[in-house]
Amino acid sequence: MHTIRVAIDGPSGAGKSTLARAAAAALGYLYVDTGAIYRTIGLYVRDQKIDPGEETAVAEILPEVRLELRYDVSGGQRMLLNDRDVSEVIRLPEISRYASAVSALPVVRAYLLETQRGLARKNHVIMDGRDIGTVVLPDAEVKIFLTASAKVRAERRCRELIERGTPQPFDEVLQEIEERDFQDTHREAAPLRRAEDAALLDTSALNFQQSLEALLKIIRERTDL
Ligand code: DC
Repeated sequence: MHTIRVAIDGPSGAGKSTLARAAAAALGYLYVDTGAIYRTIGLYVRDQKIDPGEETAVAEILPEVRLELRYDVSGGQRMLLNDRDVSEVIRLPEISRYASAVSALPVVRAYLLETQRGLARKNHVIMDGRDIGTVVLPDAEVKIFLTASAKVRAERRCRELIERGTPQPFDEVLQEIEERDFQDTHREAAPLRRAEDAALLDTSALNFQQSLEALLKIIRERTDL
């Protein structure tokens, strides 16, 4: 079957996951959050007390990692690590740092490449990440670079943290976002960048509904749906 592949890349906190998931639900596509996959590797590396910057040590434990993606009734992606549901724990700030560190390792990126491509061969997908349009699915039918200013992303993240009952000062959140942006765009292996043929969607001045409509408009225009 010829599948339709929508690649959404952008910095952390731009609302990629929420928007991609909503767009996938509206179109009946499978939503693949690739950040969750890197986070799961990050979690395993932490649990094994391995330095996430030690490429050889990380490479050694990769064969022990059995990843599984499952979907709940509302289309939410669940991550399983060796049969354990880790969907919540991978969201902890400590795991964000591990995920960012392991995602800079070429051995990890190479290891995950085929898993990601395989998902897009079997299903119409909306896949979000950092290198989907540039490396994972370079011939995706639709590519979107979704972003928002660091300040707006930090504000949104602060609101989210308050809702979760774990508030954090704005300055700290902004600093973390800027650090992760720097790490994700300056690493050697598949750095975050906009593919030349990706549509740019900046949601700084848009609310959720407006962002979703803009996203669906780009997808519809590019796929003639
Ligand atoms: O989107 P996220 O914050 O859940 O991603 C976690 C980390 O994984 C982030 O630091 C960047 C990295 N990542 C990546 O390098 N490539 C992807 N396709 C997705 C995420």
